Amino acid sequence: MDIPWWRDAVVYEIYVRSFADASGDGVGDLAGVRQRLPYLSRLGVDAIWLTPFYPSPMADGGYDVADYRGVDPLFGTLDDFEALVAEAHSHGIRVLVDIVPNHSSSMHPWFRAALAGQGRDRYVFRDRPNNWQSTFGGPAWTQVADGQWYLHLFAPEQPDFNWRNREVHEEFLDVLRFWLERGVDGFRIDVAMGLYKADGLPDVGDQSFKALSPVWGQPEVHEVYREWRKLLDTFPGERMAVGEVWTDSAADLALYVRPDELHQSFNFAWLQAPWSATAFRKVIDDTLGAVPFATWVLSNHDVVRHRTRYDTADPGTGLARAKAALLVMLALPGSAYLYQGEELGLPEVKDLPPEARQDPIFFQSEGKLAGRDGCRVPIPWSGDAAPYGFSPDGVAPWLPQPRTFKELSVTAQTGDSDSTLEFYRGALARRRELVRSIPYELTWLEAPEGALFFARGPLTCVINCGTDPVRLPPHDQVLLSSAALTGDVLPPDTAAWLRTTE
Ligand code: GLC
Repeated sequence: MDIPWWRDAVVYEIYVRSFADASGDGVGDLAGVRQRLPYLSRLGVDAIWLTPFYPSPMADGGYDVADYRGVDPLFGTLDDFEALVAEAHSHGIRVLVDIVPNHSSSMHPWFRAALAGQGRDRYVFRDRPNNWQSTFGGPAWTQVADGQWYLHLFAPEQPDFNWRNREVHEEFLDVLRFWLERGVDGFRIDVAMGLYKADGLPDVGDQSFKALSPVWGQPEVHEVYREWRKLLDTFPGERMAVGEVWTDSAADLALYVRPDELHQSFNFAWLQAPWSATAFRKVIDDTLGAVPFATWVLSNHDVVRHRTRYDTADPGTGLARAKAALLVMLALPGSAYLYQGEELGLPEVKDLPPEARQDPIFFQSEGKLAGRDGCRVPIPWSGDAAPYGFSPDGVAPWLPQPRTFKELSVTAQTGDSDSTLEFYRGALARRRELVRSIPYELTWLEAPEGALFFARGPLTCVINCGTDPVRLPPHDQVLLSSAALTGDVLPPDTAAWLRTTE
């Protein structure tokens, strides 16, 4: 069997608002992404995933879509999109776009019509709300002028579609076709385990985002992905789909990646695991035991950057651990999803002033939760002061960048062999050389407590999550390490790739 491109792909998430601002309005855009394609090509990624760039009132950073077939003027035009796809392809980089099928914007023409009393069945309107809470805080229901209530599992500006209405299916099939015809290589499906809600909308106890419950993970949702898969398969070029699926177990996750459904699902268990060899091993075993094609992800635009998540011990440990975790992730079978800025070692920006914050989570929780702005601060490309090449000089980016970004910019790190950026470039290049020549299967090797050793053919990957140095297993050569090694010793918070003779 030919190996599909996405099986081992390294996919780079571009949060478009925060990547590169070519138009000079302080917000990233498609032309900015296009200008930075040489950077991405040199970094060595196989594909990019673009977060929503569709017309949107931006109540949730574009995850409130008002028109599924267009480009918001903030981000450019459809011509800019087509030029970006063509140029990405000329660099050998595939393009995934984000599809948001659980809800639209409250400014979507269907919802405007629903408010006027037409086509309410495309959304979830009821005479009385149940006890469901919004994922962003507060009730999941908002009352409209005539007394009915509509369901929104996220912000009030994001009304949930009613997937029990066939018209919604037809609309999304057409939207997928629209982007497939414009050359996209696949889709990232937002809130993929949402869509259907249990019949009768019963009150619930546990409302957490990932729990299998009347709110999430209804069995009917799989029929949607079967239909989508059939459509994807009618296009040439191995078009694919990856689902944003928050589940409690690898077995639930596996339901979404059956052979006639989605190609991949994000493996959030990896991102949620604490810094622990036992925890990492369990996630790896559970994942590989459950899904035919694994994925790994450490950061995205919704979670605290992993450098900061891992910074639980001495200052500096977070970055060392982040680099070590990357080496493990890139050695595991399957594909790796990176989030813009992690290759620069960006930390979460924790001290954004309240007046700068934009995430609806901050507002819906009345400031009790910081929200996700801290991982969305615009990328530092160059220069000594904000906007660090993100926008033209003199333009303030939509979120303020901290002074610490100066040392972390792309130009500050390029050519410095000790930098995080050069480490990522080296690791991605090595992975590209190796990945198709080693077996998919992984074999565990005996390792001291606190450490993990595993092999895929001639590649052995080792990580030390403990507090004492450990001895490396027998090997011919050290291919890469996340920190300097002395002799045959692997220090704490370090990982390495070794070549061994089988
Ligand atoms: C997904 C997105 C997140 C968004 C939410 C609602 O979880 O990743 O950014 O807020 O869906 O669309």
